[in-house]
Amino acid sequence: TIVPVILCGGSGTRLWPLSRKSYPKQFAKLTGEDTLFQQSAKRLTGPSYAPPVVVTAADFRFIVTEQLLAARIDPGAILIEPEARNTAPAILAAALWLRKTDPGGLMLVAPSDHVIPDDAAFRAAVEEARPAAASGQLVTFGIAPDRPETGYGYLELGDGERAGARPLARFVEKPDAAAAAEMIASGRHLWNAGIFLLPVDAIIAAFEAHSPDLVDPVTRAVDEATQDLGFLRLAPGPFAEARDVSIDYAVMEKAGNLSVVPFAAGWSDLGDWNAVWRETGPDENGVSLSGAATAIACRDTLLRSEDPDLEIVGLGLSDIVAVAMPDAVLIADRGRTQEVKHAVSALKAKG
Ligand code: GDD
Ligand code: MG
Repeated sequence: TIVPVILCGGSGTRLWPLSRKSYPKQFAKLTGEDTLFQQSAKRLTGPSYAPPVVVTAADFRFIVTEQLLAARIDPGAILIEPEARNTAPAILAAALWLRKTDPGGLMLVAPSDHVIPDDAAFRAAVEEARPAAASGQLVTFGIAPDRPETGYGYLELGDGERAGARPLARFVEKPDAAAAAEMIASGRHLWNAGIFLLPVDAIIAAFEAHSPDLVDPVTRAVDEATQDLGFLRLAPGPFAEARDVSIDYAVMEKAGNLSVVPFAAGWSDLGDWNAVWRETGPDENGVSLSGAATAIACRDTLLRSEDPDLEIVGLGLSDIVAVAMPDAVLIADRGRTQEVKHAVSALKAKG
């Protein structure tokens, strides 16, 4: 079986004010009845999958157990990071922990901030990836790009075919705008979905080869972890020594044994409010409303009230995102929603 490793320790600041340090976006219902985290966990259930390993922050541990319970999913383990060190230490910790019981196993690393409408199609793509992973490849999933997005990783396709998965020539994480435009024009690139099918032993070997400084602190953090009410708490001292880096920079940009399975059935990283606007079905005027919201003569605008007592009315707006919470309101240019994280830093600096 494949062990899902679900990452949900991110703070999602680009979706402020809905996403908060204490309650980030993956635990909110952005689309549909389940939260993004619940959708991610449910997607990876069935005969091919072992119970999931969830890697998260101490602050989110009870949100995680509550949402898993509500989704009727029994976790295999919940690993608690003493502090956020980004995805590389989180994934390495999960791999080292799994190696204790299943060194030859496969792990499916999944972020919890995505929308994938067709779960069955996604599971089929994982099955396509399985033979390549079983032969030691680190398998990525590629999305056909439709714009020169700078917030994603880019996968350059190599030549040749390999049972279901294609070899990757190069992995480029978050290029600048010019490089992104060039890659889109070349027609040889896919976006990295941020989902990986990884052999446990091969991903540990890749860390040893490409980011060896992480291996010792994270190994000690796992070996000295303590059990606490069903949570596995990674040891704080050693974990704090691990460099803050994402898997994309720490391993994927450097590894040679990469493959990609293209995934065409719909995927979106709800990374910012513009993406939420796109995914929540704007009407023929491009208007998307949620909660107590009314639009008059608006175009290409998202109006969203998360407070039933707070009525939000847009009049004559174009390309605006307005999100009202009981204690904060964001009004932004729809083209600049990636910069919302700076608003959060500015507020933090104000104290
Ligand atoms: N446990 C844990 N600890 N999870 C984390 C941490 C951490 O310190 N930091 C981030 N995560 C989780 C987030 O909650 C999210 O589910 C996932 O890891 C990915 O982190 P993001 O911060 O959202 O990454 P990104 O969107 O900028 O970039 C990644 O995803 C893109 C596609 O969505 C990269 O893999 C890109 O290459 C990719 O294109
Ligand atoms: Mg993301």
